[in-house]
Amino acid sequence: MSIVFDSEKKIFKLDTATSSYIFQIYEQDYLVHLYYGSKIPDNNVAGLKYRGGFPSFSPNNINVQDWMFSADVTPLEYSGEGTGDFRTAAFAVRNADGNNSTDVRYKSHKIYKGKPAIDGLPSLYVENDDEATTLEVLTEDSVTGVQAVLYYTVFENLGAMTRSVKVINASDKTVEIERVMSTCVDYHTHDYEMLTLYGRWAKERSLERRPLAHGRQMISSKRGSSSHHHNPFAAIVDKGATEDYGCAYGYNLVYSGNHLFEAEVNQFAGTRVIMGINPDSFGWKLEPGAEFNSPEAVMVYSDKGIGEMSRIFHRLYNKHLIRGKWRDIKRPLLINNWEATGMEFTGDQLVTFAERAKELGIDMLVMDDGWFGDRNSDRSGLGDWQVNEEKLGGTLAEFVNKIKALGIKFGIWYEPEMISRDSNLYRAHPDWCIHVPNREKSIARHQYVLDYSREDVRDYIFGEMKKVLSTCKIDYVKWDFNRNLTEVGSAALPADRQKEVFHRFVLGTYDVMNRLTKEFPDLLIENCSGGGGRFDPGMLYFSPQIWTSDNTDPIERLTIQFGTSMCYPASTMGAHVSACRRTGYDTKGNVALWGTFGYELDPNKFTDADKRIVKRQVKEYHKYYDVIHFGDLYRLISPFDNPKRAAWEFVSEDKNEALLTVVTITRPEDSAIFIKLKGLDPDKYYMDDETDEVYSGALLMNAGLCFPNEDISDGASFVRYFKVIEN
Ligand code: GLA
Repeated sequence: MSIVFDSEKKIFKLDTATSSYIFQIYEQDYLVHLYYGSKIPDNNVAGLKYRGGFPSFSPNNINVQDWMFSADVTPLEYSGEGTGDFRTAAFAVRNADGNNSTDVRYKSHKIYKGKPAIDGLPSLYVENDDEATTLEVLTEDSVTGVQAVLYYTVFENLGAMTRSVKVINASDKTVEIERVMSTCVDYHTHDYEMLTLYGRWAKERSLERRPLAHGRQMISSKRGSSSHHHNPFAAIVDKGATEDYGCAYGYNLVYSGNHLFEAEVNQFAGTRVIMGINPDSFGWKLEPGAEFNSPEAVMVYSDKGIGEMSRIFHRLYNKHLIRGKWRDIKRPLLINNWEATGMEFTGDQLVTFAERAKELGIDMLVMDDGWFGDRNSDRSGLGDWQVNEEKLGGTLAEFVNKIKALGIKFGIWYEPEMISRDSNLYRAHPDWCIHVPNREKSIARHQYVLDYSREDVRDYIFGEMKKVLSTCKIDYVKWDFNRNLTEVGSAALPADRQKEVFHRFVLGTYDVMNRLTKEFPDLLIENCSGGGGRFDPGMLYFSPQIWTSDNTDPIERLTIQFGTSMCYPASTMGAHVSACRRTGYDTKGNVALWGTFGYELDPNKFTDADKRIVKRQVKEYHKYYDVIHFGDLYRLISPFDNPKRAAWEFVSEDKNEALLTVVTITRPEDSAIFIKLKGLDPDKYYMDDETDEVYSGALLMNAGLCFPNEDISDGASFVRYFKVIEN
């Protein structure tokens, strides 16, 4: 068992492939955290006992014999509000008396093979109970009767674990949850840096690093979605950790709404990390007997640097988060009309796109925004999901049949959570959007957000989607979300439940996505939110790929893709070649290969030379698919560190193939490009596909290769493929 309980010492030890996580039931049933870090194979770990100093102004519990113990300074497993611990609490419940003193202590536990799902929320899964072990610890506040079940799952073959919490109101009075963090980890030191992904529209997930300092440092979202602005990912890494050296603790929340990650360095320079739903815009009334589930936090540990942390996330998500048939089979190489036509297109025009696409070997045409209702600009039509037959020149089935007759797949765009002010749906149901009484609703892209906390709204939208998606064989849906939530309220909820709207909205979105994946199990869903504004594991549970950014400039894509790769695998990153001005098609393709490849342009405009490049890229897509989608990523030269060049490499799981990509951002001083590969088998021999030269893995990794710098113009790039040969 990879989770053991020492009943004598009352110590829980949770082992993953590379890490151990240890805590203890202390006096008066306090759960005291002891250790999280590199694996300790020995189960005799009682020596880890916490020995703190007792400072003035730190309160004691009169019933605890160990007078050195104070909740204020002891590393705790799941800390409560206002009961002796002055650090940021993981859990706060306002009880029927009106105060929010919260203190949950150990009651009982269960250890079992496998991993339970979370009701109503996406979460990591196992296909076989042997892949994971779960510990459930039941804790209770003896004064209020509120219980918190702490779930811990460790993955046997990966350095990864998950945590989540179920709150149960076991009392006979209604209470209100004010904060319920998915995870809380107390580190003994603060000799760390915090790594986060910030951004904005068209510049998502830039990497930022800061040393931890006394006090609270955090990232969060209050936008109703995980957002372009702060991804629900953060890592705590050793000072100076690099891609290959140092310890890295990665945290990622499986949630698509308001989130919070916070690291607080306390008076003794210890660090508390919490992650969960952002309590700023949250509250949840819990009636007697009712339960509430927190989203799941994923925790990855590597003592081999930040690069290995990312690779563990990638393996984990490729196997235990992405679901359905599209997890394992090749995704269609697509062409999308958005950047070429906007909403001004005709059915006949798109048929010409499909004809050209077919000639070039592209697998699927995606018809983007504008096919429904009165949708000729972004001012109208959202919510009216009825096909605009005039634009398509016939019914949807007739149009799709023309595409299918060419032998290619067909995909369609939706923005199911939105409603245009100018739409039939809004005229019929003005109260169906998120709003608060008597306050002007902010408009964004001329649209409002539908109130997905309401079942009637969800039923209607899903019903309309089902009608369209059932008329003919549609292979793919691009699910978009183009604004954030403001004036957040629901006409269907009483005043004392308005704080629940943000979370209920997310649950509503998951409900519709769940219905969609159940009703159409073969459908490939690509999530999008003005590019990558909802690039999070919650969405990945339903949509195996996400449009990484509306920015398709290959040079700007470098930082976006490097940042996104911190925890998200290449198989999830929508990356397309577009007609944007910077660089030629070669570099556009070389950069877009790092993802779910496609084109976003008018193929009728290709010259013969362009077509030759595209045909080559299509071949490369098929040839390199497995090594990119299922291989290990090595970020060799990061554009965050080196403004002149970027390089990355994918290595197949069996180490028999490696794909190297190098991009010159701006003309560097050096006359040659010198690259050391990583992750190869030192004893194997690899042939360079381009030159037929053979090198040992040791040579490629230790000495590296010197590539003649033939083309050092801005935006030049090359790809090299290495394959093992038999001796
Ligand atoms: C968003 C998406 C784009 C496109 C448009 C359509 O901005 O990110 O790719 O689908 O919406 O309105």
